[in-house]
Amino acid sequence: MSEGLVTAAYIVAAILFIFSLAGLSQHATSLRGNFLGISGMALALLATVAGLGADTGTIARIVAAMAIGGMIGVYLAKKVEMTGMPELVAMLHSFVGLAAVLVGYNSFLYHEANVDAVMVNIHLTEVFLGIFIGAITFTGSIVAFGKLRGIFSSKPLILRQRHKLNVLALLLSLLLLCVFIKPEMVTLPAGISMMGPQLLALLVMTLIALAFGWHLVASIGGADMPVVISMLNSYSGWAAAAAGFMLNNDLLIVTGALVGSSGAILSYIMCKAMNRSFISVIAGGFGSDGSASSTAEETGEHREVSAEETAELLKNSTSVIITPGYGMAVAQAQYPVADMTKRLRERGVKVRFGIHPVAGRLPGHMNVLLAEAKVPYDIVLELDEINDDFTDTDTVLVIGANDTVNPAAQEDPHSPIAGMPVLEVWKAQNVIVFKRSMSTGYAGVQNPLFFKENTQMLFGDAKASVEAILKYL
Ligand code: TAP
Repeated sequence: MSEGLVTAAYIVAAILFIFSLAGLSQHATSLRGNFLGISGMALALLATVAGLGADTGTIARIVAAMAIGGMIGVYLAKKVEMTGMPELVAMLHSFVGLAAVLVGYNSFLYHEANVDAVMVNIHLTEVFLGIFIGAITFTGSIVAFGKLRGIFSSKPLILRQRHKLNVLALLLSLLLLCVFIKPEMVTLPAGISMMGPQLLALLVMTLIALAFGWHLVASIGGADMPVVISMLNSYSGWAAAAAGFMLNNDLLIVTGALVGSSGAILSYIMCKAMNRSFISVIAGGFGSDGSASSTAEETGEHREVSAEETAELLKNSTSVIITPGYGMAVAQAQYPVADMTKRLRERGVKVRFGIHPVAGRLPGHMNVLLAEAKVPYDIVLELDEINDDFTDTDTVLVIGANDTVNPAAQEDPHSPIAGMPVLEVWKAQNVIVFKRSMSTGYAGVQNPLFFKENTQMLFGDAKASVEAILKYL
């Protein structure tokens, strides 16, 4: 395939990626968006392989690598539960970071000699930045994976002088970049001069970036993880773009930039949703100053309710709002919830859903589940659209949600979730909370909602509880 044809295929693929992103921004068009993305990637892969010409050895190696990678991808995608998706995404981000690091080292060690000094400097800067961003993405994503899996504590790691440590890491890396570009600046002691100042600078910077990425994510508290996930998404895009520069591959640059900038926009949206400052997210460790009063103890008496009583309450209500959370995903309760919604609507009850932007463990997690169960889009409303309506609502069903309906965010300035906008469910006449115990949500703080006068607890697995209610409707 000629170079011109490959470029043309890359341009079409890039356009397909842009349309894919546009499609993914809305429920109704998301399927089409996915299809366009898959088509763009298939075209990009075909053009890349075809562009290699008659180099059959390389083509065979690439096809073999793609077959192995593809098989692992299909296996993982089939095996993973919806609740395990965030961990999978974090793990995949770490691969992008690692790939950028490896491409960087390869590009430094085996690049063709260039006589133009400016081009050499540009190449070295690309290599350095690619490895730097890749290493941060790699360890940051591993910590995110560990936190989501529960391998690492979701509490923020609060090192003393942590902001100074971050600044020091950046300054040292800047200094190493200067050494990397102008190695004649330094003379190494005899023992390590074999390696050369450039490789040494690269290795030391890699270690610093690995530690920096680890610290950046470890210092962020559980409730703020959504921002971290979208931020790592963005970093992985920039790492891919950096790899594109090193490999001289225009499509990788464009694709990386698309992922990087859409991830940055998502991070900004998440920050706004959680009332956090974007700059402090990038600086890391914004979740808590270490003085947070993260009380997990119960702070009052709670009251219980049965499925039959809940069904009666629902029958006598004219307006109902359902606020789902991570527990609905764990229980896979979206199907009975959709049935219950249908039956209540047939009885003339006004049923709507209130979706918190960080409910669940993935951006849009609840929307995906409800769409899967065919809940009509027009009754699924965002926090901003529904928060003023709780006062006029008879009954709220909190199905497996906890942090996203926690009044402590407004009432306790020392809470780790202080300042985060929450669904003000307690303003409704009756609140029924579906969960299995009195345990805390992801942020590890107890929820005063459970002890309010108008709240009753319906204990048990959310799916079993909703199915039990259905029997009485
Ligand atoms: P959470 O605060 O995580 O609470 C979920 C609740 O569901 C738990 O209290 C749990 O109580 C209950 N639950 C679990 N399994 C259940 C089951 N089978 N049946 C019934 N209940 C069950 O949920 P949320 O309100 O959705 O908040 C999300 C949290 O995750 C926020 O802190 C958010 O910042 C964080 N986070 C979000 C994301 C994204 S992007 N959305 C990413 C990472 C972290 P029991 O154990 O007592 O049943």
